[in-house]
Amino acid sequence: MKQVQSMIKVEHLRKVYRTGKEKVLALADINLELAKGEFCCIVGASGSGKSTLLNQLAGLEKPTRGTVVIDGENISAMSENQLAAFRQQKLGFVFQSYNLLPTMTAVENVALPLMFKGIPKRKREKMAKEQLKKMGLGKRAHHKPTEMSGGQQQRVGIARAFVSKPAVIFADEPTGNLDSHTTVQVMNAILKLIRENNITFVMVTHERDLAACADRIITLRDGLVLRDERMDHPQEAYTVPEGQEDADLDDKSWDDSTGKAAAQPAEGETGEGQGTEIPPPLAGQAQQDETLAQISETIRRAKEKAPAAPVQTNQKIKENSTHE
Ligand SMILES: Nc1ncnc2c1ncn2[C@@H]1O[C@H](COP(=O)(O)OP(=O)(O)OP(=O)(O)O)[C@@H](O)[C@H]1O
Ligand SMILES: [Mg+2]
Repeated sequence: MKQVQSMIKVEHLRKVYRTGKEKVLALADINLELAKGEFCCIVGASGSGKSTLLNQLAGLEKPTRGTVVIDGENISAMSENQLAAFRQQKLGFVFQSYNLLPTMTAVENVALPLMFKGIPKRKREKMAKEQLKKMGLGKRAHHKPTEMSGGQQQRVGIARAFVSKPAVIFADEPTGNLDSHTTVQVMNAILKLIRENNITFVMVTHERDLAACADRIITLRDGLVLRDERMDHPQEAYTVPEGQEDADLDDKSWDDSTGKAAAQPAEGETGEGQGTEIPPPLAGQAQQDETLAQISETIRRAKEKAPAAPVQTNQKIKENSTHE
């Protein structure tokens, strides 16, 4: 029998947030193990601890207690610098609010994680373009985020997470801002990438339909694992849930090589405007600016040929989280 390689191991994970005098027990005691190449969905009611769990697994926050081991390394024992380097080498992230750098084009955004791996510029661009193509965005490579629809920006974010073929990718409601048709395209592109590259994929979602393609569904309640279900025959492809078949089927922005025609924008136009996708909320701007500052610092250091900078490319550690 084929040996199953463990990729993530969580033991007695606990997270308590403190805001002022108040303590919130977000994770009580989580124990779980995920295999290499496993696609795991985390579901549960709002406030059950899904995002908190993802943030601890991804090393974006320090647990109050317990350990998270990824690919044999105890990330809970790492310093911030070690963690940042580990994330750059091994992990990818997809967030609901895209987190793209506004001044960079799609191809520049996607190429960023490759810079941290020391890949030369030309090769980075080539790889980034290929990844964008796989996400149906071959013709949007030189567009900036503001020149793209929400669904297209999210696909750029996904291309960025996958381009360096990390061992594990974490996604918090990656299709939360997308219409049903774009969700189908994005989910199927993700499925293809994780299956082809044997990537461990951990996805938080509110939509039970999305979990139909997962190998494993973990349901949280009040910071504990309520159910841990292994699916014998996960769906190979995601389909539009019943009752939504007619929704938003006029998305012409997918221009991959599978032959589906793309809307060809005239010179100087962005080609969008059908209004089927909602742009990201403005609240994301502050976070983007902050990320931009961090990335600029990394670029500066890279130019100086300094050692890998301790920069988190996607989300900073929540400063207001304290320990029990
Ligand atoms: N930074 C924080 N400071 C204080 N409390 C927090 C913080 N982040 C989360 N919480 C609290 O921890 C609990 C779990 O939150 P979490 O964001 O993990 O829930 P969730 O399952 O992702 O919910 P949703 O589905 O609404 O996104 C909630 O009670 C929340 O209010
Ligand atoms: Mg959440």
